[in-house]
Amino acid sequence: MKVWDVRGVVEEASLSEKLQEAAAALQQGGLVAFPTETVYGLGADATNEQAVRDIFAAKERPADNPLIVHIGDMSMLRQVVADEKDLPAPARKAMEEFWPGPLTLILPAHPAIAPSVRPGMDTIGVRFPAHPVAQALIRLSGRPIAAPSANRSGKPSPTTASDVAEDMEGRIVGVVDGGACTVGVESTVVAISDQEAVIYRPGGVTQEQLAERLGIPVVLDPHLSTPTAAPKAPGMKYRHYAPDASVHVWWGDGSAIEGALRQFCEQHVGERIAMIVPAGWSVSTADGALVWSAPSSEPYAAALSRELYRLLREFDRAGAEHILVVGVPPQGLGAAVMNRLQKAAEGRVNRV
Ligand code: TXA
Ligand code: MG
Repeated sequence: MKVWDVRGVVEEASLSEKLQEAAAALQQGGLVAFPTETVYGLGADATNEQAVRDIFAAKERPADNPLIVHIGDMSMLRQVVADEKDLPAPARKAMEEFWPGPLTLILPAHPAIAPSVRPGMDTIGVRFPAHPVAQALIRLSGRPIAAPSANRSGKPSPTTASDVAEDMEGRIVGVVDGGACTVGVESTVVAISDQEAVIYRPGGVTQEQLAERLGIPVVLDPHLSTPTAAPKAPGMKYRHYAPDASVHVWWGDGSAIEGALRQFCEQHVGERIAMIVPAGWSVSTADGALVWSAPSSEPYAAALSRELYRLLREFDRAGAEHILVVGVPPQGLGAAVMNRLQKAAEGRVNRV
């Protein structure tokens, strides 16, 4: 697997030069992983049916789970959506306010988009990522790029090029290494009509931000609050984001959480435990647990969002049997982080 290292390359001409080979691979139907501000994507030409099928094979992804199509500038929008002129006004507004950025809009699909991108659906998810490397690569390839997260299905999404390599070595042409992702959780997936916006997957753009800017009601797809409801985004029904270790989450009152962590350690003496805690927490653990505490320089939710997937992978490699996580209230970016933690923990989320 090739690695194209573009870390620290900002000048446009040298970035283009370093991305030539990766862009050519995409044009020829190859699979190339690349950084975005949310997570690394596993890219292929969205108009090439065989290339898109290869994505599903490389990821071992269920065929009924549609892919997000990425554009490198606004002029590419007309290549991916049908009736570009007739989009609902609030959807336009969302593009103006939040693109480029961590927001995916569900829109009517252009007929040139390969059928496997949108199995049995007449819509596609469209995103214009903010990452300069993603933008440059997509523009150079001249194609809309279908890209799910570049993990094997069920695993935590990759936020570094080495995470991608861990899952995709031998399965793809290569990965563009642009360093660590800054948001760390995937984009918000939202369907917008003239009347309302429905969030299918919470992510980097928050419900609160959408409500403030769009001027229409912004609601959550019922499955996000009612476990028995069927999700509108097919991907949300699968076990997801899960490391090999069992994950346990507590949120709420700080001293109650510390008590719960201590009790868990007492009840699992001799087992390998890892912890993710806010800045300044000192949890005394008998058997020398692996502890990651957040930096104090930023809100805990932002640090947790950026580092969560990387830490889940790191603790797996270290052989942890249990990963204990201090969660956050499910508001703002916290809604996205807690949604992912809910899945990683398979429901073992406790409010104390
Ligand atoms: O941040 C992100 O969104 C990353 C980066 C690479 O852009 N991509 C990503 O893709 O997370 P993926 O495939 O892991 O998740 C796409 C989600 C899935 O839950 C899928 O079901 C949903 O978007 N989705 C895609 N197209 C859809 C459609 N037409 N209708 C409903 N849901 C859709
Ligand atoms: Mg994914």
